[in-house]
Amino acid sequence: MSNRFLALTPRIGAKAMMGKEEMLDVANADEIMAALERHGVLLFPQVGLDDAEQVTFSNNLGEIIPMGVLRPDGTQDPVYKITLDPKENPAGSVYLRNTIGWHIDGLFDDGPPAKATMLTGRRLSATGGQTEFCSTYAAYDDLAERDKDYYESLRILHSLEASYRSTRPDAAQEDDALWRKMEAQRERSGRRGTKEHPLVWHHESGRKSLVLGMSIDHVIDMPEAESRALIAKLTAHATRPEIVYRHEWTVGDLLMWDNCGVMHRVIPYDPNSGRMMHRTTLYGVERIKGVERSEAVEAAD
Ligand SMILES: [Fe+2]
Repeated sequence: MSNRFLALTPRIGAKAMMGKEEMLDVANADEIMAALERHGVLLFPQVGLDDAEQVTFSNNLGEIIPMGVLRPDGTQDPVYKITLDPKENPAGSVYLRNTIGWHIDGLFDDGPPAKATMLTGRRLSATGGQTEFCSTYAAYDDLAERDKDYYESLRILHSLEASYRSTRPDAAQEDDALWRKMEAQRERSGRRGTKEHPLVWHHESGRKSLVLGMSIDHVIDMPEAESRALIAKLTAHATRPEIVYRHEWTVGDLLMWDNCGVMHRVIPYDPNSGRMMHRTTLYGVERIKGVERSEAVEAAD
């Protein structure tokens, strides 16, 4: 079969050369997922899917995490609205402001982080609002060979508080009060706001990637200043322009990314612009796993 995915950059991103009908045909699902694994980000330009079509496309590729509005029957809409308009998404308009920082979705979930996310551009902002992706596989591959064992040994504490602080260095007091209230609600519902992960993720495929992002609080067992300097160095390494794809949106584009092999962020935009993205997200299937202590001990025996 001819290759229906054209690389957008040498290291990350590809454009799908298929129309809406082929995209929605379940017979093409394996080819799409293989391309996603290879390129990290797939663009289906101006296909203009409506919500029902986006749900069909997503269901062909995995199982959707319902995240949208609560319906009268108690179920949640599979489509989540990404907007800073509080009338459209009251809680989201607070949390979504964090997404201007590099991140991997679902690092605090109990289960594996989401496998993939699909976004349809519905309304755009006149300025800003581009979505950027960097390949965390390429970030690992490009580490100096002599340093890889050392990085494999590091574990990192991620926290929602760190995400919040990193994207609002001078948050207004009202913002802080609202944040604390939402965090208290989260804790009462039993969801944790911190989680430890290895720096290097060993995927079942045999590939390795770096687990970084704005949620990093500190490197475990490392003095604070050293931890901060190391994270700044690794983040700069992981977000070098040659492993970044920046998407300039056109209405109707569908962009899909491998949440386990890329980090993403949005370029800041006017909260009053009306920018609206419709998102579907697929459940993850693979936990973040690094070098287990027991494996290291076994190897030494
Ligand atoms: Fe995100």
